[in-house]
Amino acid sequence: MDRYVVFGNPIGHSKSPLIHRMFAEQTGELLDYSTMLAPLEDFTGCAREFFHQGRGANVTVPFKEDAYRLADTLTERAKRAGAVNTLSKLADGTLLGDNTDGAGLVRDLTVNAGLSLNGKRILLLGAGGAVRGALEPLLAERPSSLIIANRTVEKAELLAESFDDLGPVSASGFDWLREPVGVIINATSASLSGDLPPIASSLIEPGRTFCYDMMYARESTPFCHWATQHGAAVSMDGLGMLVEQAAEAFFLWRGVRPASAPVLAELRRQLA
Ligand code: ATR
Repeated sequence: MDRYVVFGNPIGHSKSPLIHRMFAEQTGELLDYSTMLAPLEDFTGCAREFFHQGRGANVTVPFKEDAYRLADTLTERAKRAGAVNTLSKLADGTLLGDNTDGAGLVRDLTVNAGLSLNGKRILLLGAGGAVRGALEPLLAERPSSLIIANRTVEKAELLAESFDDLGPVSASGFDWLREPVGVIINATSASLSGDLPPIASSLIEPGRTFCYDMMYARESTPFCHWATQHGAAVSMDGLGMLVEQAAEAFFLWRGVRPASAPVLAELRRQLA
């Protein structure tokens, strides 16, 4: 049976095996998918060993940059992201590196939530790996502007500069912004510590602004709670992004696109 794994450290709580097993069952694809704890100091050795037999892998924290360096060839979006979350062994034995995180986000927004990003003013909060991975797919949707706001403004500026050939992207501090925007996406890790990025509630136009948190939780995340309180039209967490980035990886490996809705519903049920 074709073997797939997700590499990470720690990796015990990964939902990827559950998601991919549901995809396999649904599509009738025969594959085996499990977790693989890679040692912090030797991801490359561990991955090379796996790929003697393995067909593909997902890669999560903290190895996405290592996977980027390991890949023999990279997709355009992986090059732009500077990180790889999906490795696929090609027929000639070489490794293709892709990054499906940003595409997963865009699919969750545009297909699952039915939101058109074309012509919208988008505010992205954060300037770490999650934002870097999202920029190319977001800009491909042709928003009227995309503002990256971050606590450390210099990081937002560097990112804006390296993506400004792809669209109207600019950098900002959190407290410089007041005017309502169409879409706010929280890609900071602030929720992990129960925090909120300090942004003005006037950024939300009640009943119109769409708010999305890349994090997810059993209950509303602090950002989703804040958005709802201030009248956001929609306030959505990132569980759908998790399923969609997996569906993109599955498609890359197997050439079959699984239906994400039943898998998302099952994950939501288990989370509750
Ligand atoms: P990831 O790969 O998840 O993007 P990261 O690269 O460590 O993680 O980036 C974390 C992001 O969350 C950064 O933009 C960070 O801001 P700084 O660049 O100023 O460090 C942001 N962040 C983390 N905790 C935060 C908090 N409490 N408030 C606001 N921003 C926070």
